Amino acid sequence: MGSEKTLVIGLFGFGVVGEGLYKVLHQTPSLKASIKRVCIKNTNKKRNAPAELFTTDMYDLLNDPEINVIVEVINDSEVGYHIVSTALKNGKDVVSASKKMLSEHLPELIELQNTTGRSLLYEASACASIPVIRNLEEYYDNDLLHSIKAIVNGSTNFILTKMFEEHLSFKEALLLAQQLGFAETDPTLDIEGYDAVNKWVLLLTHSYGVNTTIDKLLFNGITQINELDAQVAQSKNQSIKLVAQAKKLNNGKVATFVLPQFIDQADHLFFVKNEYNGVVIETGFADKQFFYGKGAGSFPTASAVLSDIAALRYGYKYEYKKSNQHAPGELSDDFHMRVYLSFDDFSKIPKDEFVSVEEWHSGNERSYLVGTIPYKTLESSNWWKTNNTSLIMLPNGIVEDMELQELKKMSLSLAGMEL
Ligand code: HSE
Repeated sequence: MGSEKTLVIGLFGFGVVGEGLYKVLHQTPSLKASIKRVCIKNTNKKRNAPAELFTTDMYDLLNDPEINVIVEVINDSEVGYHIVSTALKNGKDVVSASKKMLSEHLPELIELQNTTGRSLLYEASACASIPVIRNLEEYYDNDLLHSIKAIVNGSTNFILTKMFEEHLSFKEALLLAQQLGFAETDPTLDIEGYDAVNKWVLLLTHSYGVNTTIDKLLFNGITQINELDAQVAQSKNQSIKLVAQAKKLNNGKVATFVLPQFIDQADHLFFVKNEYNGVVIETGFADKQFFYGKGAGSFPTASAVLSDIAALRYGYKYEYKKSNQHAPGELSDDFHMRVYLSFDDFSKIPKDEFVSVEEWHSGNERSYLVGTIPYKTLESSNWWKTNNTSLIMLPNGIVEDMELQELKKMSLSLAGMEL
């Protein structure tokens, strides 16, 4: 580790997070870090900072030898990648909050850290204020981590809370999430699950050493969740949340997905509401641990950026321990999933794909079933994302062999069941 150094920051982006960082840094004089220049795209917006701080020329920052840290908090992932990779090549350490950019370019960025010897930190990119990346990186031995289950997107959690507890419409709740600065500039990234799965790619790297991309992961957002789903959840004293989950299977491989999920009251995630995020980690010896904090918003996100900046003072780097010092984790497609499925057209549901069915309820407008389906079926098709269907994972919904046999024995027959 290097000795503490004075940090001269070049900041890219002055939106919700960038401006938040500017303010937070002013309240943290002990850090001995100052922002020298800020690069922005749009010069027409009024900025709450001296005009001479701003430039639109990225090379004013990237080529300034006095600037030794680049903080990148913009939302264009291609431009972000160019900035971050150039900064590393130019000998600067980097802090980024751009989950989409990081998830799309992580292998190249790890390689660049190795070749340049510089550090790229991105604690703010997943679960904002919760120090989950550094924790996963430093604390857990690969073999001890049984599972990790998390709410990683603040906007969708906020929307679901407002819809189910305050009876706002989806549209109203989304608008509020946008007004409060929680949602992405393009909010479909939040509501269709892209933001959550981008973050999950990063967390899988630091928890299990799994190097993957979003096109290899099963995920969905919350746009299909409807009134019937909410009623079913309520009747079972459960809530519905968008949950990212990974679990080590008996075969040593990792089962993972990002999907809406029913959450029991006994689950720590049940109490994670609004823009808060939560992470439940299960390990061999410690049993369950729960991390909780704000997952979106200006100051909570800036607080994680600030913590990364502070860590750069003593030369902190991610070592990617789970990939480098252990056998990298491998994803499995060999497991089953217990799911709830609601639909208005049973003919669109490939019922033969269900290996067992536990519940069946037909209604006038919508019906639903609860059953078990191979992961591979969902991975290789998208009928469950279209046709006005809604698929929600059950609690403890990852099914391995033994349990599968039990479920099969109890199965109802779907033959002849129609709306
Ligand atoms: N749109 C993101 C969220 C912002 O709602 O979680 C924080 O990453």
